[in-house]
Amino acid sequence: MNNSTESPFFRTTGTVALKWHGSSLELLDQRLLPTKEHWITFRDASGVAQSIRDMMVRGAPAIGISAAYGVALAARHAGAGSWKADITQAIGELSASRPTAVNLFWALQRMQKVFHECNLPGEAQERLADEAVAIHEEDLAGNLAMADYALEAMRLSSSASHLTPVSVLTHCNTGALATGGYGTALGVIRRLYEQKLLTQVYVDETRPWLQGSRLTAWELMRDDIPVTLNADGAAAAILATGKVSWIIVGADRIAANGDVANKIGTYSLAVLARYHNVGFMVVAPSSTVDMSLKTGTEIPIEERDGTEVQEIRGVPLAPEGVCVFNPVFDVTPANLIDVIVTEKGVVQKPSAKSMQYLFG
Ligand code: MRU
Repeated sequence: MNNSTESPFFRTTGTVALKWHGSSLELLDQRLLPTKEHWITFRDASGVAQSIRDMMVRGAPAIGISAAYGVALAARHAGAGSWKADITQAIGELSASRPTAVNLFWALQRMQKVFHECNLPGEAQERLADEAVAIHEEDLAGNLAMADYALEAMRLSSSASHLTPVSVLTHCNTGALATGGYGTALGVIRRLYEQKLLTQVYVDETRPWLQGSRLTAWELMRDDIPVTLNADGAAAAILATGKVSWIIVGADRIAANGDVANKIGTYSLAVLARYHNVGFMVVAPSSTVDMSLKTGTEIPIEERDGTEVQEIRGVPLAPEGVCVFNPVFDVTPANLIDVIVTEKGVVQKPSAKSMQYLFG
């Protein structure tokens, strides 16, 4: 991996979710944060698929990057006579790991394209590893570009010549832990902080998996970024104080009309933002855009096991046997979104037409 000052890795924050070593992939077990920093080494695609399913690694871009490294591992350890079947099987297994984040399928398609161009196992080994590293590096570079675009979009919407410090609210974890190493929505928040334009970040705890309290608060505190943690239900009261100018969130899949699937609770925030006249910004790489789906109703929404709501780390929080509904994403309609920021540019007031203009 290129660590020169030319490489986007030069701009990392110090927090990373994954480390590629050429013949193995190390993942930070995000299930144990913030109390334990425990790294696990994987040498095969099955282990990587399992780690995505179990949310050891999570966040749309990080899922795609990990899956790409999973394919590289499959090539590295494939049998001499069965390398094509082994890699095909690995791609199938990885693609079944989680359904909503389209970055997973986007990354696997890129890997598949390279794989189909390879004629020999050694060639596949080398080229698939290079492609996975490229996906990782491009994601990080994209994060940095999005932060620039987002600040410009905020300045334009304030119709002032320059930005003044703001407080923002965010949901889930969209930071270095969820991406190639800087963050999408959290990358914008980092950039505001770097430019002394951030007063306070309010972070929803993000029930039931607590990505906000366990991961985002941890990431921000490591970098001394001023963070206040709140229960999800407190967001309305925070917006009612008038202190927050923007809600900034990530995305798992964006449909052709600008509807956005993101962590459960995002839709409620968009409704609250409109009521309180607060800006609502979605920040995601173009690999999150799925122009094959006309609207958000077509986005597959993952439902996870009810135990995620019934208990925390094995401690029961609800009566035994209670019926649970646990969709882990929701869809925010495009008309509640002020701006979608990608590394390709910005879509103001997203619609089928404005999305087509940038991504068609
Ligand atoms: O279930 P998770 O933790 O994978 O969900 C993560 C989110 O919903 C993020 O907001 C999204 O993936 C964007 S991460 C840059």
